[in-house]
Amino acid sequence: MAVTPETKLDAHRLRADFAVFDELVNGRAVAFLDSAASAQKPRQVLDTMRDFYEHSYANVHRGVYRLAERATTGYETARGKVAGFVNARSEREVIFTRSATEALNLVAYAWGLDNLGPGDLVVVTDLEHHSSFVPWQYVAGRTGAGFKAIPIDESGELQLDALDEIERQGTVKVVASNLVSNTLGTVNPVRELATWAHERGAIMVVDAAQAAPHRPIDVQTLDCEFLAISSHKMCGPSGVGALWGRKELLESMAPFNLGGEMIRSVSTERTTWNELPYKFEAGTPAIAEAVGFGAAVDYVLEAGLEAIAQHEHDLVEYTLGKLGELPWVTTYGPPPDRRAGIVSLNVDGVHPHDVAQVLDWEGVAVRAGHHCTQPLMTKLGVAATVRASFYVYSIQEEIDRLVDGLHKAKSSLG
Ligand code: ALA
Repeated sequence: MAVTPETKLDAHRLRADFAVFDELVNGRAVAFLDSAASAQKPRQVLDTMRDFYEHSYANVHRGVYRLAERATTGYETARGKVAGFVNARSEREVIFTRSATEALNLVAYAWGLDNLGPGDLVVVTDLEHHSSFVPWQYVAGRTGAGFKAIPIDESGELQLDALDEIERQGTVKVVASNLVSNTLGTVNPVRELATWAHERGAIMVVDAAQAAPHRPIDVQTLDCEFLAISSHKMCGPSGVGALWGRKELLESMAPFNLGGEMIRSVSTERTTWNELPYKFEAGTPAIAEAVGFGAAVDYVLEAGLEAIAQHEHDLVEYTLGKLGELPWVTTYGPPPDRRAGIVSLNVDGVHPHDVAQVLDWEGVAVRAGHHCTQPLMTKLGVAATVRASFYVYSIQEEIDRLVDGLHKAKSSLG
């Protein structure tokens, strides 16, 4: 289907693909506002996986029999879909991983341990998820490199004017940033950061876990070196993600996990590595999950990424408008034009976990906590927030139920 900005997303129609919306919570249909944690799965993805298991399942890249060939074709077709989804130059640049977290660890370990040392600097941001913050902090510590975070301003956006001061602290070798903040929804200027990184001879590593489900991703336009995405946040199964990386870099790197499949030859004297992408795919991969990931790519492309982004923008605008009428609610993050479908908030005098509990009684599912972004919580001066996040199936009525639930939390606990 040709995707145009004019193609409006019909969330009510898409909801019919998700059996979970027939589920009742406390006698009401669930208002699922936690897609940033993990998205619900449409029957198209579930049917594809069931069909694969029933008709094409075997291990991949190993057998010569018919089923093994079908399984390998299914797995490699999925890789092709993911490669197309991020606009990779070659399918060989796409490595299936267990998750976006594992993809980011792969880069930090397999690139970082061999390319960082004393005097070097790793630059992350105050908006990072722990999966993009902690591996770099750890590998910087192991190698003696420095580690700095780009600060944020009042609206939760990166303060790029701090870069001058940051680069005085060492030779910048890595810039790692998410494309969309999982806590505030901030859309980060990754293209600009990549240019800044390249001017200093550094690589740009992008955590796109929270962006890929919601807006078009193009690694060539972003001009980055590595980009991580996750299947379960974009209607696919959990247990599989992908790392896209520039071929020259992936080829130059040592392997991350060692074992079967990732070798070319093994002897007591010496082991050599397989070609890309298999060099980074040790062991039996998540086969049916990768196939399901491919089906999820089809699903979100069919819905239209521009249309998804517009739909979520409208929902964010609506939510912030409603919450702006409540003086006892604090919201965090930039204006709707510079954020994805995520709204973090707090209710005066009520702990975020208690707010989430009251909302659950109303059948409204949100996440409360630090959202794996403790450095950001520190900057915001809070221990936790309540986070509502939207996706293709989210509708205004669910936001109205969120707002009603917040009123109940305030009146009963505030
Ligand atoms: N990274 C996921 C979230 O933001 C789990 O909730």
